[in-house]
Amino acid sequence: MTEAFFYRPLARDGSARLGEVVTPRGEVRTPAFMPVGTAATVKGMYPEQVRELGADILLGNTYHLMLRPSAERIAALGGLHRFMRWPHPILTDSGGFQVMSLAGLRKLTEKGVTFRSHIDGSYHEMSPERSVEIQGLLGSDIQMQLDECVKLPAAPEEVARALRLSLRWAERSKRAFEAQPAGRALFGIVQGGDVPALREESARGLVDIGFPGYSIGGLAVGEPQAVMLAMIEVVNAILPADRPRYLMGVGTPDDIVEAVGRGVDMFDCVMPTRAGRHALAFTRFGKINLKNARHADDPRPLDEESDCPAARDYSRAYLHHLIRCDEMLGSMLLTWVNLAYYQSLMAGIRAAIAQGRFEDFKAQVKDGWARGDI
Ligand code: GUN
Repeated sequence: MTEAFFYRPLARDGSARLGEVVTPRGEVRTPAFMPVGTAATVKGMYPEQVRELGADILLGNTYHLMLRPSAERIAALGGLHRFMRWPHPILTDSGGFQVMSLAGLRKLTEKGVTFRSHIDGSYHEMSPERSVEIQGLLGSDIQMQLDECVKLPAAPEEVARALRLSLRWAERSKRAFEAQPAGRALFGIVQGGDVPALREESARGLVDIGFPGYSIGGLAVGEPQAVMLAMIEVVNAILPADRPRYLMGVGTPDDIVEAVGRGVDMFDCVMPTRAGRHALAFTRFGKINLKNARHADDPRPLDEESDCPAARDYSRAYLHHLIRCDEMLGSMLLTWVNLAYYQSLMAGIRAAIAQGRFEDFKAQVKDGWARGDI
């Protein structure tokens, strides 16, 4: 096994890229979807099961893990991979985004952010250096710089202030990261809201600092899809082609195929796991809401041709019953269905790029997703 981190391009179809992110813990086939494992678990799934679906990498959250059980405790127990029994690559978010959406009494200064825990109200400080230190204690393979993401719509002056602060934090994060073992990577995060010139400023600033990979942040935060896609185009024209690009927190299957078509390699989103816990199943025919009473007598599975036992072997009537009774197996089965769908979507995307038929595949996915409850 290599000790280096790098991106290996394999094929292109238009702007869509097939490749591999190579890490000492294994290769990540891209375009990749990272299931969200916020609190050192993909909710309702065994790690072996997540792996079997074809996931090469999981996402973990600095914010949640620093509060519970704490980075120092996980480090003492041998790191996050051993702790959660996932020996493959892990990417961690830096915490800034979660502080802004979850924590109480936040204060943001040049130094970093201070906040109160959403769990017990305890006081915490996080600087760019501390975020990188925590991610190092966790043993994360791909770490994120601390950044500030502004919700849209926002005044351009506010967007500019946040992206410039994020650029200064990017430099500090990179310096702090130098203390870590070889083979791990720190990504810079592009901000700049919905303003093309500010997106350019952010991307150029990060490329000047130099990172082994780049994240595109501050999107899917209230703007229309067309705006998000336009920002991705602006940014990807600047980011170097020999580094992976990760679109943070996105998205629907439609968003994913559109972003892949513009050169994005990595994605994460709570959608498949969260929707599964809320009775919504994703299939290649569209979305199915299992809460609906019309499923009560339906003996058909969700998709009899699926490779996923949860989609193939359990009746809609049974899934509906589990959900009506608030049984945990209902959430578990639907999470399984949805992650299987997302991983098969990514496998389909990779095969289509390899065979030069990505546009056809994209149209098929968009058509399936556009259909309502079936
Ligand atoms: N997750 C989704 N969007 C963002 C973002 O802009 N920054 C960070 N750190 N995480 C995110």
